[in-house]
Amino acid sequence: MRNGHRTTIKYTSLIILIVALFRFWVSHVNVPLKCYSDEEGNKGIEYGPTALELQSEHVLLNFISKRTLHEPLFIIVLADSGRVGSSLLAELLSSDTNTILFFEPLFKLNKSPKLENGTFVSQFLEKVLNCTYDDKFEKWFKYHVLFRRFYHPVVKDCQKTKNETDCVKHVDFRGLCKASTVRIIKVIRSPLMSVEKLLNRQDLNLRILHLQRDPRAALSSINKIGWKARPQKICTQMLANTLAFEAFVQKHPSKLHKVRYEDLCQYPRDTVSKIYSFLWNNSTIPEPVVNYIASHMETEKNVKGPMSRTKDSKNEAQAWRREIKDTLFMDAEKEFTCRMSIERYGHRVFWSVVDLRNPKIPIALYEDEERN
Ligand SMILES: *[C@@H]1O[C@H](CO)[C@@H](O)[C@H](O)[C@H]1NC(C)=O
Ligand SMILES: *[C@@H]1O[C@H](CO)[C@@H](O)[C@H](O)[C@H]1NC(C)=O
Ligand SMILES: *[C@@H]1O[C@H](CO)[C@@H](O)[C@H](O)[C@H]1NC(C)=O
Ligand SMILES: *[C@@H]1O[C@H](CO)[C@@H](O)[C@H](O)[C@H]1NC(C)=O
Ligand SMILES: *[C@@H]1O[C@H](CO)[C@@H](O)[C@H](O)[C@H]1NC(C)=O
Repeated sequence: MRNGHRTTIKYTSLIILIVALFRFWVSHVNVPLKCYSDEEGNKGIEYGPTALELQSEHVLLNFISKRTLHEPLFIIVLADSGRVGSSLLAELLSSDTNTILFFEPLFKLNKSPKLENGTFVSQFLEKVLNCTYDDKFEKWFKYHVLFRRFYHPVVKDCQKTKNETDCVKHVDFRGLCKASTVRIIKVIRSPLMSVEKLLNRQDLNLRILHLQRDPRAALSSINKIGWKARPQKICTQMLANTLAFEAFVQKHPSKLHKVRYEDLCQYPRDTVSKIYSFLWNNSTIPEPVVNYIASHMETEKNVKGPMSRTKDSKNEAQAWRREIKDTLFMDAEKEFTCRMSIERYGHRVFWSVVDLRNPKIPIALYEDEERN
């Protein structure tokens, strides 16, 4: 009797420990979102990088001079919140050669008011991009097992050695930074406002990719992995970023580009091709990035059921409409900033759970958003 009791206690504690570890894991890692298969992307017929072939020769010269610039290109992937695909997009772009990725360097400042201080954030990000960050930051970054692996293949490969810590210790992080020609930072904890000072700098070769997703989908995903879903917080940030983007893009049209997570997943090649046009005035997706798309976003594994895959990928992009909890959905749509940002995003506010769940009611407010 007592023994059985003890065993139960033992197993219960073990389960509690496992759950706690899992919670810790999800709360410390932004589990990358995965997309689903897209047959059209796979074939590369409709969305393949064919535009370049149609272009004339003088453009060629233009491209060459751009891609061999000595100045490194700085890219900030800025998302409104977690669970909108920023890990996916940042990792995708970093799969090209000579590229490094600072995965959430602002993570350490979580919840600090400094994240809203534009002067501070701009100075901090500039030092990171220019490889002139302080030793304290390097130490923190090197220690952060999950973040550092995104930095460079050399660091990732350390996982394969007997002593990963020892291997990483000997990697020259700053040297890799200086040698890279493209330096990416993923930011989800700071508003777009706070990088304004960087945008105004003429001496920086900077591009900002602003990643957005329907806030109801982001909230549903946040809730699913056990984080606290706060509609007001997420939507206020989204609205502020949307307005900041609209203002900044007037002044710096060549420095800002909006990416919609829904497009990235449904039409990966087309969307990434547009990103490359924006970054380099060259819509050809580099080969390592094409490989990344093929292996991470178009895998067979993600295909569910015998339905047509094209149809399926469209369904997947709206899977949250079936999955989101009634209460969370209602809380979100009750929130004024959510309704504002949803409509500015070009999506429909459903007002009722019945309409939300009805797949016949399109989510896109405008025809041209509906691509099939
Ligand atoms: C465009 O980029 C691709 C991939 O990096 C490259 O192979 C190609 O030469 C570039 N085109 C031009 C015209 O520079
Ligand atoms: C913002 O950051 C800068 C640079 O770190 C600092 O000098 C300034 O005092 C900060 N402003 C506020 C209001 O905290
Ligand atoms: C970047 O760092 C170098 C020194 O490594 C410095 O000379 C240069 O002024 C810095 N550039 C910017 C834009 O901060
Ligand atoms: C791995 O290397 C680190 C740093 O060099 C060292 O402190 C640690 O003891 C090593 N661990 C093992 C298991 O050898
Ligand atoms: C970008 O490419 C287009 C052709 O696709 C060309 O007309 C234009 O001049 C280029 N712009 C820059 C800034 O190089």
